[in-house]
Parts: sequence; C-alpha cells; structure tokens
Amino acid sequence: MTDFQTILLERDGRTATITLNRPKALNALNSEVMAEVVAAAEELDQDPGVGAIIITGSEKAFAAGADIKEMADKTFAQVYGENLFGAWERLTRVRTPLIAAVAGYALGGGCELAMLCDLIIAADTAKFGQPEITLGVIPGMGGSQRLTRAVGKAKAMDLVLTGRQMGADEAERSGLVARVVPAEGLLAAAKEVADKIASMSLPIAMMAKDAVNAAFETTLAEGVRLERRSFHAAFATDDQKEGMAAFVEKRPANFSGS
Ligand code: CAA
Repeated sequence: MTDFQTILLERDGRTATITLNRPKALNALNSEVMAEVVAAAEELDQDPGVGAIIITGSEKAFAAGADIKEMADKTFAQVYGENLFGAWERLTRVRTPLIAAVAGYALGGGCELAMLCDLIIAADTAKFGQPEITLGVIPGMGGSQRLTRAVGKAKAMDLVLTGRQMGADEAERSGLVARVVPAEGLLAAAKEVADKIASMSLPIAMMAKDAVNAAFETTLAEGVRLERRSFHAAFATDDQKEGMAAFVEKRPANFSGS
C-alpha cells in the first residue's frame, strides 16, 4: 500500500478505515488529501479482501471543507484548466461500500465528501453545511446536487443560500444521515455497520449499491428493470445458493464472494 502523508489507513478484518489527518487545518481538503483519499479508496477497491471502507476524520472535524488557503488566489483559467475537485468524482466509481463516519464539522467539501459515500453515520456532535456562499462561491464537489437529492429542495436551498450549519438530529430527520450515535461511540458504531456489510457477499453488496444508486440516475421503470435483472443475475452466484441454503438449514450463511 502506498505511503500516505495526509491520511491514515487501517485494516481490521474485512473493513478498512481511511482517517483524514490534517488536524491543524481541521482536515481541510487540499489537493494532496484529495489525491490520497481517492488513491487509497481505489487501491482498497481492487482488494476482494476488503468488504467495506470507512472514511472518517477527527473528533472536532470530519473536514472543514476544501482548503480555502490553497485555492484563494487561483484564477478562473487555473481552476477550469485543472478541473478543480473533478478527481473526487472517482469515488463514485468505487464499488466497495463506502461509509462516512462524521464527528464535528462536515462543511463545504467535507459535507460533499460525506455525501459521496454510500451512507453517513453521524456523531451527535456532527455539523453539516454548505457555507461556500459566504466565501463568494458555490458548492463544487456535488453539494448542490447530492444535498438536494438527500434532503429535498427546501432544506438544500436553506443551507446553500444561507450557509447555515445543520446539527446531527436535523440531518437525520432530513434524511442526510442514516444513524446518529453518541460521539464517543462513533467509530465503534461505524465499524459495526462496516463489518456487517463486509460479512455479506461482496459482489452482491456491489449489486445492491449499484441498484440503489440507479434510483438517482435513471427513471423508475429503468431502475426497476435494472434491479430485476441484477436480482436474476444474483442466481448465477454461489453466494445466492449459500445464502438460501443457510436459511433453509437454519444456520448462518458463510459467503465466499463467488
Ligand atoms: N481551509 C483551509 N484552512 C482551514 C479551513 C479550510 N476550509 N477550515 C479551517 N481551517 C484552518 C483555519 O484557517 C485555522 O488555521 P490557522 O490555525 O493556521 O489559522 C485552523 O484550520 C483552525 O480553524 P479555526 O481557527 O477557524 O477553528 P474554529 O474552531 O474557530 O472554527 C470552523 C471552525 C467554523 C470550521 C472554521 O474553521 C471555518 O469556518 N472553516 C471554513 C469552513 C468553510 O467555509 N468551508 C467551505 C470551504 S469551500 C469548499 O469546500 C468548496 C467546495 O465546495 C469543495
């Protein structure tokens, strides 16, 4: 595994954890963090021994956004030319389930990174927001689109136009986060969810993730058709035979990923 400077990487069983590690800058997402998170996630995605990936930050900040100091003096030609933040989209092509474990600030790009994951588990200290408008810009890592799909137009407009922060409870009520847990138990809770997912058949988990994601990309009829075809395809795997045999034999399933 590559040697990283701005993130920590841990493996425990079939779960891998990527921890953003720029504490002095509240995990601001500079170009090095972006390159490392994306490279780590892509590398882990190639490993069938990894069944789920957690992305997390610190107690104080998941990430306080894109690195304002790094981008403040850039010109239009530079940000357009380098397609600033375009590389984050590579996370959408990671097929292993991605879980964001969020404590503290998840602002701007931090909120957007959490939303690039498949599900968000939040500590009760989590604060989500898209404050870009206060800096004279707008979200640039998908926030205007993913937040709107997650929480609807009313709340998305509220957050994007005022830049206000939303606490964990409001985020859960709004459908942005899957679960809220006490801050001290965040990593344990995320690990439990990740381990649970990683205990399933990896190709089937990928299929399930693909099917849910299709709901955001296509029509209902097309999405349902894709789901049904994928459901049929599941019968070509050993894991479907194992999963159903285990149910009939009243024992836990032991999935092989084949
Ligand atoms: N970029 C660069 N540095 C940042 C940063 C960011 N997004 N957020 C915090 N930092 C740095 C601060 O500059 C400070 O560094 P120094 O000690 O060298 O001054 C350090 O982290 C600690 O921050 P604060 O002293 O500000 O900590 P605080 O507890 O008083 O406030 C905060 C915390 C409310 C999160 C505040 O830091 C803040 O408002 N940060 C910026 C949030 C923001 O606007 N994010 C959006 C960025 S734009 C974006 O993300 C675009 C996009 O869509 C991709």
